[in-house]
Amino acid sequence: KTIELSIENIDKGEYEHFMLKEIHEQPVTVQETFRGRVAMDESKIFLGGISDVMPKLLEAKRIVIVACGTSWHAGLVGEYLFEKYARIPVEVEYASEFRYRDPIIFDNDLIIAISQSGETADTLAAIRKVKDSRATILGICNVAGSSISRETHAGVYTHAGIEIGVASTKAFTSQITVLTMMALLLGHKKQILSTEEYQKLIHELTLVPDKIREVLAIEDQIEKIAATYKDASNALYMGRGALFPVALEGALKLKEISYIHAEGYPAAEMKHGPIALIDEKMPVFALALNDNNYEKMISNIQEVKARKGKVIAVVTKGDKAVKSMADHVIEIPEAHEAIAPMISIIPLQILAYHIALMRGCNVDQPRNLAKSVTVE
Ligand code: G6P
Repeated sequence: KTIELSIENIDKGEYEHFMLKEIHEQPVTVQETFRGRVAMDESKIFLGGISDVMPKLLEAKRIVIVACGTSWHAGLVGEYLFEKYARIPVEVEYASEFRYRDPIIFDNDLIIAISQSGETADTLAAIRKVKDSRATILGICNVAGSSISRETHAGVYTHAGIEIGVASTKAFTSQITVLTMMALLLGHKKQILSTEEYQKLIHELTLVPDKIREVLAIEDQIEKIAATYKDASNALYMGRGALFPVALEGALKLKEISYIHAEGYPAAEMKHGPIALIDEKMPVFALALNDNNYEKMISNIQEVKARKGKVIAVVTKGDKAVKSMADHVIEIPEAHEAIAPMISIIPLQILAYHIALMRGCNVDQPRNLAKSVTVE
């Protein structure tokens, strides 16, 4: 028996658009992703979908992540997490490139396909490409029973619930939640993380829903910033470390739904090109949290200000130094670096939404884009 789903009979509730509803659902969807997987007492993580292949995962010498679009950005965040907490080298590949190359796959490789729909043609083709190897293939999908989830050896569902907005939001934070749980679990099993560190990080993960709520509470403030930049023709996003993929994702949100040309850059790469574009009309969104990259980000912001660019910085609550330089700051709650990507993407999603709305764009179904790209 199949249940017919059409956009019309799914309720937007109090929200004007699915995208806005899905942005606001994130405290709950992230919680759904770790529900039943993080022990109530925060002592351990249990991922039933991959427990059978755990011996293989612990032997993995390398992880290759294949994905497209927003899922590929989640993969880039995953790269930092697996490297840092499980000390496993990671390559993140565009599925569309990977499938047409002659990739070198080792028996003890772990291939992870990330896909909200589980139906993206290129991602599916990428895992088919390696199916005859001896590598272990995992899926991180949102749609249960989807093609990718069926064609992988094992996997972890994101459980974010159906996502309708073409611009992915809640699927992204849930994918990162799964990647975080996987990285911490492997790191602990491999004795890279002590039990104490492991449990501390688990605790940090459980704080994500409330921290997202805090960001959602300042939507009005973000909306005002959106009004200031709604007529921009271009925008740059910059970040470092695990916030670099957040810059990419922030730029993708803006370009997808508002049609403003936007690019995300690792902050230090700005001087190798994009800085040439900066003038008084260019908004530059900077992810400048109080992490290890803070001082470096301050220098990058100064470089933008010296060229008269407009800086809108996402900072940690209570920040002073960036505030004194930037044109606008968006303060987000203090967040451990392991969870900072999930918190710092929220204001960028909200910003893209409001800018698109003010430009009269079709937020849920932007032109030329499809929710699920099942053809090449
Ligand atoms: C399309 C969607 C994006 C999505 C990408 C990958 O481009 O518009 O939102 O990130 O496909 O989709 P997947 O279902 O594989 O995550």
